[in-house]
Amino acid sequence: MVSISLFLKSLITWIPESRSDSTNIDTVPNSMCKTCWGVLLRRKIFIRSILERDHDKNHFSPKLTSVISYMEITSTLSSIALSSQAAVFVFEKYDFDYCCKGQQTLEDACRTAQVSASDILKEIRNTEESETTSVFRPWLWDSPMLISYIVQNHHRFLRHSLPLLKTSILRVATKHGERFPETYTLAEIIEDLCDGLLAHLDEEEAVVFSPQVQSLSYEELKPMIDNLDSEHQHVGTLLLKLRDVSHRFTPPPEACTTHRTSYRLLREVVQDTMHHVFLENSVLFPKLLREKLG
Ligand SMILES: [Fe+2]
Ligand SMILES: [Fe+2]
Repeated sequence: MVSISLFLKSLITWIPESRSDSTNIDTVPNSMCKTCWGVLLRRKIFIRSILERDHDKNHFSPKLTSVISYMEITSTLSSIALSSQAAVFVFEKYDFDYCCKGQQTLEDACRTAQVSASDILKEIRNTEESETTSVFRPWLWDSPMLISYIVQNHHRFLRHSLPLLKTSILRVATKHGERFPETYTLAEIIEDLCDGLLAHLDEEEAVVFSPQVQSLSYEELKPMIDNLDSEHQHVGTLLLKLRDVSHRFTPPPEACTTHRTSYRLLREVVQDTMHHVFLENSVLFPKLLREKLG
């Protein structure tokens, strides 16, 4: 029972705040304790039915061990991606933006993509049962660990790869742009991405990712995070353009080796950045803000 309680407390630490919910947390229904009511307010759709079904006076029953993989079509993309690494693979396959537009529901994303939401859930389950999924639970990490992972895994990768990608695609556009005019567009977008994103990494590491963040109040930190979030929105728009202009990273049949390797690196940069932004928007930033609220 103790470990389940600790597990759910850790779950609470990563569930994004429901900013639009104006319900008073002090108005706890008679049938529930304050802790579980708080969970419901934060992610009502995600775990409501399980909590309501299984709640008892001693907080959480053993049945709640299944909460981590609970998902339904009205869950948000970010909450599903957080609960299942397999979902990330499936979202990437169907081009669902789970990082900058992670607050849209699976139902809405499926409607836009004209695919069946129940088929997507089935595919996630099937992928979970395959051998390809790995165990990756960033919501259990503390903030210093998350920051260290993001900087060493994602920021280092971008600082190394973005200049290479920029040079490589520019070379392709210069040599083959007349035959493949989309490479001019790709070169322009990558230049924009390179300039904006590298400055964004420096900005993150200067304050929000530094020990200096400890001395900031919630009121000081919140606008900084809002600013980083709006920069993520711009990055997200560029990533989608890169995917579309490159025909989902598919080089033409007659493309040269540089053209092909550029598209491979482009795919890696886009997928890595989506996951990077997702970790910041859906795990790290809400955690940093909650820490300020105590
Ligand atoms: Fe970052
Ligand atoms: Fe960022």
